[in-house]
Amino acid sequence: MRLFAFLKDVVDCLVIKMGNEMKKKNNDRLLSGSISVENAVSVTGLKKSFKNVAVLKDIDFNIQKGTVVALLGPNGAGKTTTVHILSTLLLPDSGIIKINNFDVVKEVDKVRSVIGLTGQYAALDEYLTGRENLQMIGRLYRLSYKDIDRRTDELLELFDLVHASNRAVKTYSGGMRRRLDLAVSLIASPPILFLDEPTTGLDPQSRLIMWDIIKQLVSRGTTILLTTQDMDEADHLAHKIIVMNGGKIIAEGTSEELKLRVGSERLEITVINDIDFERATKIIREDNLRTDKTSRKISFATKGGVRQLKQVLSQLDEANIEVENISFHSPTLDDVFLTLTGHLTNAEGENNKVGLS
Ligand SMILES: Nc1ncnc2c1ncn2[C@@H]1O[C@H](COP(=O)(O)OP(=O)(O)OP(=O)(O)O)[C@@H](O)[C@H]1O
Ligand SMILES: [Mg+2]
Repeated sequence: MRLFAFLKDVVDCLVIKMGNEMKKKNNDRLLSGSISVENAVSVTGLKKSFKNVAVLKDIDFNIQKGTVVALLGPNGAGKTTTVHILSTLLLPDSGIIKINNFDVVKEVDKVRSVIGLTGQYAALDEYLTGRENLQMIGRLYRLSYKDIDRRTDELLELFDLVHASNRAVKTYSGGMRRRLDLAVSLIASPPILFLDEPTTGLDPQSRLIMWDIIKQLVSRGTTILLTTQDMDEADHLAHKIIVMNGGKIIAEGTSEELKLRVGSERLEITVINDIDFERATKIIREDNLRTDKTSRKISFATKGGVRQLKQVLSQLDEANIEVENISFHSPTLDDVFLTLTGHLTNAEGENNKVGLS
């Protein structure tokens, strides 16, 4: 069942707010607060427990209008629970949550009138065609027939589904379903959109198509909260990333800021001889060193680029330690988590501890 059937009269003009292209510079100014902006979402002191198990532990964050925020976290971090509370599907235990200044507990209908949701799992009628799914939701939103036809055509075109529009959804691929699911949540042009893991399970090409669509929506002024387990996705799409783990926010910032905490890249060095491994880990005196004795790999966050590389290599050389391989790689979600929490990402967060020197 589509959950936002009750959305009434959402106006297109709200969507086209910030012009065609939000320049990065402008966003940075917005995010740094140098000009005053309104929040589309504001969350203060959000707590939620299920049967005495706390799953959201005092969450605070804001989303400025016209920006994309990514909630990044592993399984069980509390992303979906947060999205469900923000979209009025679940009541918070405590906290003040406002969407376009409407209270999610006291002004449910008003909140629902300004939001769209694409849930973590597709909510489509398998036996209807793509076009019929869109039309059905348009009618539930009480749009006029003229508007339904116009929006249906626009969305089928935007999501590259025109060729399949008259086929039952049960014949669609995973990527097509995901695209249609997102299209359906946009039928009433909501100014605020919640996307719960919009690209999980998509192949790389479908993921890129979805990213493009999300970017187009943002360029038209839509405010988006998306959840993801993928650092790369957050990096590409979000103006601000909120890292969640175990029901708490453990870091918040632009992707640049977060990467700086992790190191813009990681440098991985493999030594040739087993016997040199322990010595090498002592010689390389970097923060957040990660070591793997079996593969003789040592990695750490780089902040000094080539100069730092030269320094480390000359230290190893002076100690007569031979290096088999050197490689750089971009920070992954695991790197962020390692740096922030000292353990690798996993569902409940505690079984995967690794030593940090
Ligand atoms: N209805 C519920 N009853 C009991 N526990 C729940 C319920 N919904 C969620 N939880 C628990 O709350 C925690 C957070 O779940 P949530 O679905 O918000 O995580 P998530 O970050 O979205 O994870 P995923 O990446 O797997 O989707 C988990 O430990 C989960 O088991
Ligand atoms: Mg989830």
